Amino acid sequence: MSYRDVYAAWQADPEGFWMDAARAIDWDRMPSRAFFQQGPAGEWFADGMVNACWNAVDRQVEAGRGDQVAIIHESPITDSTRSLTYRELRDRVATLAGALRAKGVGKGDRVIIYMPMVPEALEAMLACARLGAIHSVVFGGFAAHELAVRIDDATPKAIITASCGVEPGRIVAYKPLLDRAIDEASHKPDFCVILQREQETAPLIPGRDVEWHSFQHGAEPAECVPVEGNHPAYILYTSGTTGQPKGVVRHTGGHLVALAWSIKNIYDIDAGDVFWTASDVGWVVGHSYICYGPLTVGATTIVFEGKPVGTPDAAAYWRAIRNHRVKCLLSAPTAIRAIRREDPEGDLISQYDLGHFKTLYLAGERADPDTVRWAEDKLGVPVIDHWWQTESGWPIAANPMGLERLPVKRGSPSVAMPGYDVRVLDDEGHPVPPATLGSVAIRLPLPPGTLPTLWNAEDRFIRSYLSHFPGYYETGDAGYIDEDGYLYIMARTDDVINVAGHRLSTGAIEEVLATHPAVAECAVIGVSDSLKGQMPLGLLCLKKGTTTPETQILSEVVGLVRDRIGPVAAFKTACVVDRLPKTRSGKILRATMVKIADGQPFKPPATIDDPAILDEIAGALGRVGYPRSS
Ligand code: COA
Ligand code: AMP
Repeated sequence: MSYRDVYAAWQADPEGFWMDAARAIDWDRMPSRAFFQQGPAGEWFADGMVNACWNAVDRQVEAGRGDQVAIIHESPITDSTRSLTYRELRDRVATLAGALRAKGVGKGDRVIIYMPMVPEALEAMLACARLGAIHSVVFGGFAAHELAVRIDDATPKAIITASCGVEPGRIVAYKPLLDRAIDEASHKPDFCVILQREQETAPLIPGRDVEWHSFQHGAEPAECVPVEGNHPAYILYTSGTTGQPKGVVRHTGGHLVALAWSIKNIYDIDAGDVFWTASDVGWVVGHSYICYGPLTVGATTIVFEGKPVGTPDAAAYWRAIRNHRVKCLLSAPTAIRAIRREDPEGDLISQYDLGHFKTLYLAGERADPDTVRWAEDKLGVPVIDHWWQTESGWPIAANPMGLERLPVKRGSPSVAMPGYDVRVLDDEGHPVPPATLGSVAIRLPLPPGTLPTLWNAEDRFIRSYLSHFPGYYETGDAGYIDEDGYLYIMARTDDVINVAGHRLSTGAIEEVLATHPAVAECAVIGVSDSLKGQMPLGLLCLKKGTTTPETQILSEVVGLVRDRIGPVAAFKTACVVDRLPKTRSGKILRATMVKIADGQPFKPPATIDDPAILDEIAGALGRVGYPRSS
């Protein structure tokens, strides 16, 4: 069937479409229907009973895939490669789950996982899923404070971590970060499981910390616990407009159905294929397409601990693709830009036989046409941009290679996937004509696998996503749809920025800057960056009478953001200004400052309080290397 036929089939009978898709997974009790009009935005497969670990692991062994490799750990940063078969994975996950159960972890309990890119991160997720416990993975590049915020919101019974992560040129000791986070948080976990890595041995706190292997050793393997289709599989925190992250909830049944459908029909991956998502389990791409998606269809997944460049060179991706016969790679445009910068002619690429490699998928930020063209040219395979969010859990718009290869329009993530009725709206919520820029929204209900609510924050869920355009989910992205139905995502409509494919809240960074004793007022903007897409830039107004030298204040605020949010914020530049440009009602004109910093033409908004400030801002930005066009 063509894409158009499949999309039309979903439009004609959404209930039948998703019940059909639900047959791709094993249910302990088949749901009586697909959609349930309950909760703030509806729920899927609510009366079915299912287990995610069974679907991702045990049933592959039952189906005769026990000796097939499930996970390859490719770690150029520690110079090692190892693999686990489905049978080994099942046995390890079952005993880890048994050990967690013996310490009182059961259905509905939360477990935070703060791990580097090692197979044990997936084992921990799957062990939780096996018990019906709700995992919440926290990205390793976040600092102790961010971990503490998540501990207080998720109130986990246990935290699973490792002694360290390994970044180029440095060992990131996780245990001190964990200890600081637990000290800071009001909620205290009952116990912590620590994977000791050979690069770093963490001292354990008696009575609270247990070492992974001794914890697991001799544990009675746990069976899979069936849970309701609308039982939360996990909480994943993502950036909102404030320092309090949003806890996106994922329900188990819809999650599995959406992943089983998308990995086949969008990514063209089946049992036995090797699928590689070069991201981190701390992000939604990692949850969906490093862990649950590929395993649910019996494919082999790669856990990559390295960087596209520098570990040790710009051929790390191509070497792994060749060595492991990877069929598809999912990465971020920033990674391809980093490779291109080191190997502009693709000389390294041509040294590797990539005969098995079929498609490169890009997500996390807009894939700029220039990067897409370069990758197509050097790799000789389709390069597919696709658009989605932590909230959606799987692609909203894509070129569904498993159904039909649609013509690629560079700069567009192609077309809406079944389940998503994507519209572009004006400020009053009316659909705009084709090719007109507006807010990108999705008509309710959202499909299976998308967020049904926010953890502990249903009001915020309604306020953030459902209130502005009644009857729609507001994506927070701006863009347009052309005459052929291709979508173009151009910018955010809120204060979220995208740095190297990582979603960051300027509001959260501002909250940290404001804690510096010399800072009276501040703003953070995302300026264009040729490698990372955007980089955060801080503008500070100092308190009257400040005597501390500006250079010292600037380096202190950079240190504060690294310490409070983490290195992932990549906050390296700030400058001092006398005043911030505002509207007469007091709203800071961030978008205008972005244009000035990027060296783009701009018109001062009619509501600006004092247009003269813009010249002052341009002068201050010029002193730190902006304005510029990149
Ligand atoms: N634990 C601890 N620190 C981490 C970390 C982790 N898991 N991940 C990143 N960091 C640190 C990095 O070491 C770096 O620290 P530094 O300031 O001391 O150098 C900082 O966070 C910023 O990291 P990153 O944005 O990854 O930049 P980089 O300079 O290390 O690498 C790229 C640049 C382009 C190669 C890299 O950003 C990349 O591969 N991005 C892909 C993004 C991606 O997969 N996004 C997910 C959406 S698909
Ligand atoms: P995250 O929730 O971290 O996955 O970030 C989601 C946001 O990243 C989206 O709302 C977009 O702003 C941006 N994004 C992700 N993929 C794309 C894409 N293919 N094109 C444009 N923007 C994207």
